[in-house]
Amino acid sequence: MADDGGPGPAVGPDGTGQPERAGPPGAAAGGTVEAVDRILSTTRAVRKRLDLGRPVEEAVLLECVGLAQQAPSAGNGQGWRFVIVTDPEVKSDLARLYRAGARDYLDRALAGARDDQARRVFESAQFLAENLERVPALVIPCVHGRPSANLVHSAALFGSILPATWSFMLALRARGLGTSWTTLHLSFADEAAALLGIPADVTQVGLIPVGYYTGAGFKPAGRPPAQDITFFNAWGPA
Ligand SMILES: Cc1cc2nc3c(=O)[nH]c(=O)nc-3n(C[C@H](O)[C@H](O)[C@H](O)COP(=O)(O)O)c2cc1C
Repeated sequence: MADDGGPGPAVGPDGTGQPERAGPPGAAAGGTVEAVDRILSTTRAVRKRLDLGRPVEEAVLLECVGLAQQAPSAGNGQGWRFVIVTDPEVKSDLARLYRAGARDYLDRALAGARDDQARRVFESAQFLAENLERVPALVIPCVHGRPSANLVHSAALFGSILPATWSFMLALRARGLGTSWTTLHLSFADEAAALLGIPADVTQVGLIPVGYYTGAGFKPAGRPPAQDITFFNAWGPA
């Protein structure tokens, strides 16, 4: 088992099975830094711009799960599982659970929105809640194990599925599909587990609606300068 970036199974970054070739600095991913940076800076929460009328191919979803499997996991445990729901009846049942979990939170959030940007986010979240069953695929990332009060254990558990989930979303974005991270159905995680047959020793960590997006691309979001949130050597500004 390769545990240090040393020789391992020959699976290249492009999923071809070819190992990555050495290249000039800045070309580490076998492509351009610009292309990678564009995906990293423009993978937004897509809700209103999901194409609700265009199905998502199973092959694309599986390809992106394959890329997600290149993510790190604690002890290389790889306990990730992805439950992909495309059946209209099951999507309706899941959407009902999502709305039950979302309603109060989103009503309160919208009423208390502190500015236009916050209002837009919560209106968009409400649109998603109201239309969730119309989204072509609902993906529930899961991990083997249950969270506990032990920080090391819980960090390892969630850290073993959240990076893979984000990789999945980035891979979809690179292929012209939009996603949004959501967690609001988790108030009814037990009901969702019963609906989908998810075993009791498996934890759901979210619900990712997936569809092709409409319109042109996306822009980077406004964020404060990195210096404002980064501390060197000890907490607090130098
Ligand atoms: C842990 C987490 C939970 C989230 N839960 C929800 C959710 O339940 N419903 C929803 O519509 N968006 C949810 N979001 C999406 C955020 O609202 C979104 O990422 C944020 O507004 C920033 O928007 P951007 O990703 O387009 O920059 C969640 C995001 C994260 C990271």
